[in-house]
Amino acid sequence: MRVISTLGIALVGFSMIVAVNVYGKTEARKPEPYKGLTAGVVGDAGKMSVPADYRTVYQMLGTWAVAETKGSGSKEMHVVYASPGTIAAFRKDGHFHDGAVLVKEVFKTTTKSMTTGTVSSADKLVGWFVMVKDDVGRFPKNKLWGDGWGWAWFDVANPNQTTSTNYKENCQNCHVPARESDWIYTFGYPVLKP
Ligand code: HEC
Repeated sequence: MRVISTLGIALVGFSMIVAVNVYGKTEARKPEPYKGLTAGVVGDAGKMSVPADYRTVYQMLGTWAVAETKGSGSKEMHVVYASPGTIAAFRKDGHFHDGAVLVKEVFKTTTKSMTTGTVSSADKLVGWFVMVKDDVGRFPKNKLWGDGWGWAWFDVANPNQTTSTNYKENCQNCHVPARESDWIYTFGYPVLKP
C-alpha cells in the first residue's frame, strides 16, 4: 500500500510539474502583437504587405544610386523610408525599435544631360523591399522572419503579396556586410546620426 500511495503522490507531483511547464511555455510563446501602423503591415502568421501610405506618412531615411557598369549615370535608384518614430528612437539608443518598418523602393532610371551635369532620375518603379523589426521572435514558423526582422520583396504588380519565400536564401547573404549594424546599411543614412 505504502509503495502505491508513494507512487500516487509522485505521479500527482509529476503531472503538476508537467502542467506548470506546459502552461509556462504557452505563455512564453505569445509575444505582444504589433499595434498601430505596424499592425497594418503585418497580418496573421506574419504575412507582410507594403504599407499603403508610406510615401506620405513615413520619413525619408536615405537614397542609394547604383552606377551603370557601362557608360555614365546610375542604372538604379533606391529610396528608403522608415515608419514614424524610427529615426528619433534610433538617435536615442542606436537601435531600431520593435515594430520599426523600413521600405526600400527600387527604381529604374533615366539619365540625361541637364544644367547640373549628367543626371539620373527615378523612372519606373520595379518593386519594394520591406523589413519589420521584431525583438521577440513573433513568427518562429514563418521563413520570412528571423534574426530580429521580417524580410520581404514585393513586385510592383502586387504590394500585398510577397514573392520571396525564405529570408535566409533571398536576403540575408547580401546583408552580411551589415551584420554588425543589425543587418541594415546604416552608414548610408545620415539622418540616423544624433
Ligand atoms: C544582391 C544583394 C541583396 C539582396 C539579394 C538583398 N539585399 Fe537588401 N540591400 C542590399 C544592399 C547592398 C543595400 C544597401 C545599398 C543599396 O540599396 O543598393 C540593401 C538595402 C536594403 C534595405 C534598406 C535598409 C538597409 O539595409 O540599408 C532594405 C529594407 C532591404 N535591403 C531589404 C532586403 C530584403 C527584405 C531582401 C530579401 C527579400 C533583400 N534586401 C535582399 C543588398 C541586397
